[in-house]
Amino acid sequence: MGGRLQGKHILITGAAQGIGLAMAKAFLREDAAVFLVDRDAALLAKSAKELQSIGGRLGYLPADITDAGTITTLVAQANEEIGQLNALVNNAGVNVFAEPLETTDELWNRCFDINLKGAWNCCKAVLPGLIEQGGGVILNIASTHAFTIIPHTFPYPLAKHALLGMTKSLGLEYAAHNIRVNALAPGYVSTQKVIDYWNGFADPEAAKAETMKLHPGGRIATPEEIAMAAVFMISDECPFMNATCLTIDGGLGVLQHPA
Ligand SMILES: NC(=O)c1ccc[n+]([C@@H]2O[C@H](COP(=O)([O-])OP(=O)(O)OC[C@H]3O[C@@H](n4cnc5c(N)ncnc54)[C@H](O)[C@@H]3O)[C@@H](O)[C@H]2O)c1
Repeated sequence: MGGRLQGKHILITGAAQGIGLAMAKAFLREDAAVFLVDRDAALLAKSAKELQSIGGRLGYLPADITDAGTITTLVAQANEEIGQLNALVNNAGVNVFAEPLETTDELWNRCFDINLKGAWNCCKAVLPGLIEQGGGVILNIASTHAFTIIPHTFPYPLAKHALLGMTKSLGLEYAAHNIRVNALAPGYVSTQKVIDYWNGFADPEAAKAETMKLHPGGRIATPEEIAMAAVFMISDECPFMNATCLTIDGGLGVLQHPA
């Protein structure tokens, strides 16, 4: 015991795989208690079972973050199972990529319901408890899509821009309650979501090679590299970091164009 997250009781959404699962592992290793949420019930159960070997307090419940009522019930259950929540990581998100004029209302709603409203549903359910306890941390997993645009990915970047806006707004609104609200903006990370993105091209291997070539270091991030930053942002090592965003993209965002 004595890890960097000792005493933290953290709810993580979208935790069955990818960045969410890597954060769950890293948090448990730093002695946090974690409660995992994902809409993929079978994968969540499988991942939670694997995580149990690390030890520590772990709970999980399948749920869809777009269902505000379920999230309220779920937060009550998390408080019971792992202790009063004092941290939330809004990680669940989906790629919704289309041409602007081909974006149906259904695609638009799916994108904003999950990537923005889902995160708000969780904030709304957790914030009263944080206020009551006199403090806490919310970390929103945004993206470099929160600042820049990749053509043909509409309307996903709009939702990530808005998630960053929500981070700033809630960070200011609740600073006096000792609640820190920040965002983490990964660039490309090697998860299923990115593999699915490459598979959407006629030549997935060429698309993957193109992505790697874009990066100054010739590679993309691992989920574990994002999780390391999340540990820092949730911990008490950055008590005055609030209403801001940490970018982790290997330097891609400052590259004007390749030489
Ligand atoms: N992978 C990347 O390159 C990358 C880059 C920048 C930002 N991000 C962001 O990081 C987060 C995690 O991405 P990832 O690559 O690990 O994704 P992933 O697809 O590997 O995992 C996301 C998980 O979220 C769950 N989920 C999706 N919608 C949900 C809902 N409505 N309710 C509950 N669970 C839901 C999925 O079932 C899945 O298990 C997302 O917000 C994503 O936008 C990812």
